[in-house]
Amino acid sequence: MVEQSMWMRKVADDPGHSTWYVERFRAMARAGEDLAGEARLVDAMLPRGARVLDAGCGPGRVGGALAAAGHDVVGVDVDPALIDAARQDHPGPRWLVGDLAELDLPARGESAPFDAIVCAGNVMTFLAPSTRGAVLGAFRAHLAEEGRAAVGFGAGRGYEFREFLADAAAAGLEPDLLLSTWDLRPFTEDAGFLVALLRPAG
Ligand SMILES: C[S@@+](CC[C@H](N)C(=O)[O-])C[C@H]1O[C@@H](n2cnc3c(N)ncnc32)[C@H](O)[C@@H]1O
Repeated sequence: MVEQSMWMRKVADDPGHSTWYVERFRAMARAGEDLAGEARLVDAMLPRGARVLDAGCGPGRVGGALAAAGHDVVGVDVDPALIDAARQDHPGPRWLVGDLAELDLPARGESAPFDAIVCAGNVMTFLAPSTRGAVLGAFRAHLAEEGRAAVGFGAGRGYEFREFLADAAAAGLEPDLLLSTWDLRPFTEDAGFLVALLRPAG
């Protein structure tokens, strides 16, 4: 057993949290808001019909858009209520309940490696800090040699960008490109957000 994710601790404190989160994004979708920015960046990195892992997929916003673009998507999230919503709202991909710190998709019948791993929406900052290295190690283990992981999260959420990049390096992932937004603004030292495109080191 790994330490419980901070997200599930939040859910334990407030059992309505998952429903609130699902409904918030459903309302934005009904209002016609653009919820596919991260998916567009990842789609641009890939050949058609690529294998994509949506890590910490939540209700399937990013993986659903990538599946609609023709990719073969597997989504994994630790919150069963969000996986239920992903299955309802975005049928097609395989949406699996699981903790990223214990990720072993071949053991669950999903072939690896993946051409891309997308980890959007501050997932890294909702992990139990003790599991960050294991999660990044699992990303490396599930990534093709020519594949890339796109990981995005905000500053001021308890995980310094420098620490994250050091953890990624220790897990065998090195930066291919660092950005400060999902619409391709360059990363700067004072950026409030990081989108790290990581490749296997070596
Ligand atoms: C803010 S939500 C983002 C959801 C989705 N990636 C998106 O952008 O719409 C953060 C997600 O991280 C997931 N998460 C946190 N810790 C996790 C873990 N250890 N394993 C799998 N998912 C985790 C939560 O369950 C939650 O769905």
